[in-house]
Parts: sequence; C-alpha cells; structure tokens
Amino acid sequence: PITHAVKRQLTLALLKPDICASQKLQVRVHEAIEAQNIKIVSQRPVLWTKEEAGAFYAEHKGKFFYDRLCGYMTSGPFQALVLSSPDAIKEWRALIGPTHPCRARIHQPTTLRALYGLSDTRNSFHGSDSDETAKNEIAFFFPELSIDNLLKVQDSQA
Ligand code: TYD
Ligand code: MG
Repeated sequence: PITHAVKRQLTLALLKPDICASQKLQVRVHEAIEAQNIKIVSQRPVLWTKEEAGAFYAEHKGKFFYDRLCGYMTSGPFQALVLSSPDAIKEWRALIGPTHPCRARIHQPTTLRALYGLSDTRNSFHGSDSDETAKNEIAFFFPELSIDNLLKVQDSQA
C-alpha cells in the first residue's frame, strides 16, 4: 500500500521495579507517555535472573554501580515497552530526564525521573540511547517482533 512519509521511530523503554510495584504509578506513567503523543506499541512484564540483568547491562560491568544496578533490576517484576513516535528515542529520554533523579529535580523538575526516581541507581526508567541500541534492546525483550514490520504498520496507520 502507498503510505504517508511520516517518520516513525521505535525505542525500548523500561519501567523499573519500583514503578511496577504500584499499579497506580504504572498507570500514571502510561498516561504521561500517551499525553506526549508517544504510542505504546508493545508491552510485557519481565522478571530477571542475575544472568539476564548482567547480559542487558554488560556495557556497565566493572563500574562502581554495576552490582547495585543488577540487584535493583532483579528485585521484582518490571515492564518493557516498545514506544513509537516521530523521534521516539530522544522524546522518551527527554520525558524521563537525567540519569540522576536529584539532578533531574534541580534542572528538569517535570521529568519522570524527577517525579518518581528514588536514587542514582533506583531511577525508575530506562530508554535506549541510539538507533542501534534501540534495535538490539527491542530484540532482547521482544525477540518475536519484527521491527521492520512494526514500522510498516505504524506508517500505514499514520
Ligand atoms: P547510564 O546508561 O549511564 O544512564 P541512563 O539510564 O540514563 O542511560 O546508566 C545505566 C543505569 O546505571 C542508570 O539508569 C542507573 C545506573 N547508574 C547508577 O546507578 N549510578 C550512576 O552513577 C550511573 C551513571 C548509572
Ligand atoms: Mg544508558
């Protein structure tokens, strides 16, 4: 079919265990995403083993916060989302704000990490940081999804 040339981009978002511990908080975050005209195109609950956490965060192995990070991300169920918007990678990272919630509260107080983040490690959200990591991270959590197909569906709906 002939489709409009509307740019769609996908990104991988995580709502980390502290958000998913509260159904109310999780709903509020979904509402904040949709209020930005970012579409949630897939979602699934995840409960990680230490090995899975280590595989996802391999780039941080050896850093001072690595054990803390893996401990946090295996502390309970969390949620993986595929998000779609014209500039999804940047838009989602802008919505969650800086890595450190204490800095977010000073410089970007309306961001999700400023509102909900608990500490440098327990910062409530993840967002892919580039096209390549988005592709890899979506495949990590949603191996059954074809990114090309998802983008085609998005296009024909635009
Ligand atoms: P990083 O990729 O640098 O941040 P972001 O999530 O904003 O892309 O780090 C990955 C995660 O590691 C981060 O979300 C939380 C944890 N982390 C710490 O616990 N302390 C730190 O000082 C940093 C930089 C990260
Ligand atoms: Mg990162």
